[in-house]
Amino acid sequence: MKNDHFAQAGSAHGQGGRATGFNRMRSKLSFDRLVEMGARMGMKNPLFVCHEGAAKATTCIGGKEYINFSTYDYLDINTHPELTEAVTEAARLYGTSAGASRLVGGERPPHRVLERAIADLYGVEDCIIYVSGHATNVSTLGFMFGARDAIFHDGLAHNSLVQGAFLSGATRYSYNHNDCDSLEALLREKRDQHKHAIIVTEGLFSMDGNIPDLPRLIALKQQYDCMLLVDEAHSLGVLGATGRGVHEYFGIEPGAVDMWMSTLSKSLCGCGGFIAASKEIVEFLKLGSPGFVFSVGMPPVIAAACKKALDIMLREPERVHKLQKISQYFLKYAQEKGLDTGAAQGYAVVPVIVGNSMVAGFLAQALFQRGIFAMPITFPAVKEGTARLRFFISAAHTEEHVRTAIDAVVEELPGAQATVDAYMQQTQVKEQD
Ligand SMILES: Cc1ncc(COP(=O)(O)O)c(C=O)c1O
Repeated sequence: MKNDHFAQAGSAHGQGGRATGFNRMRSKLSFDRLVEMGARMGMKNPLFVCHEGAAKATTCIGGKEYINFSTYDYLDINTHPELTEAVTEAARLYGTSAGASRLVGGERPPHRVLERAIADLYGVEDCIIYVSGHATNVSTLGFMFGARDAIFHDGLAHNSLVQGAFLSGATRYSYNHNDCDSLEALLREKRDQHKHAIIVTEGLFSMDGNIPDLPRLIALKQQYDCMLLVDEAHSLGVLGATGRGVHEYFGIEPGAVDMWMSTLSKSLCGCGGFIAASKEIVEFLKLGSPGFVFSVGMPPVIAAACKKALDIMLREPERVHKLQKISQYFLKYAQEKGLDTGAAQGYAVVPVIVGNSMVAGFLAQALFQRGIFAMPITFPAVKEGTARLRFFISAAHTEEHVRTAIDAVVEELPGAQATVDAYMQQTQVKEQD
């Protein structure tokens, strides 16, 4: 639909208008290019699939049930009756919109209740919630740092962290993925050239499912006088005995990290993001960060849902244990079957790396036909040549779900590879002709 819209807009202005000539620029869209190339090879478009209900460990698409490995509902809390009740009550009291920016339009009780609960979770002074996880990183980094500063980020840091670094105007240093030696070499050489500096990492890397060396990152931040931001999008609810995240995993006092960031869209079943930090930082962000000041407040219903999800997470650590157990099973079974799971450590995110983007696409399609939904991840989300199927695992997945999926990957991968090889050979022959 969207594409048709662009086509119409372009043609109305003769395709060439500078304001509307988006069709010409579509060649820049990597996903679009891949879909188009896939279509030439006979692949169906895997994007924008419509689920007919809540996407949990299983999901319904086109009237058919699929085992679903594309949900962030790690703890199987989405659709929990207590969430529905909390949301219904919040909607009754406050409606579905915050109506305006909290700074000027005021807030509702669920905003502060959620912020207090998250600050307590990390044992820090305060917390700010934003309406989007992506905007949380963009707005926080973009606002807090400037031209004289430096942002040192992991080479595979999420797009939102990188975009925030760009926006800030600070000098951006990307260190080799999960490599503290590479970071230290950069800090040694560059840190003194800047006023403020921050190290930015994820608590569990979203593409590879591996964990950063948090103790060493803390030591480096102290040694080189930097701040440290940890994005817990995929580690909150996933790591540690009670799901408190990467600090609990390492047994580290959370106050050693300057800013705990996470999205609210994953284990906490809502939408938005937060920064949990000192009162000074939170106040600074609440009074100036554009994604907070110039954006509407989080809908109170979402704040109520996230708070309830957090309560359930803390009350029922068995969800976290189940998730960890089934994730470890997934990793072990996949490795036993000879699949390339990269650096994954068996916590909620496990990739099966196949290399070529088209192979990943055809493999996903073959699995879909067998009732398994797992999305292909290709460039630019990951480096060229490391395309993969990314499996998000939920506490509700069973060992049978895992075996069914992995066995299907093993059976379908050679066919996907053969389809792509045959196409490549054919096109080479044509080019030579
Ligand atoms: C590591 C990381 N940070 C930030 C975000 C953005 O969060 P949201 O999708 O809730 O806006 C994501 C999204 O997947 C993520 O994986």
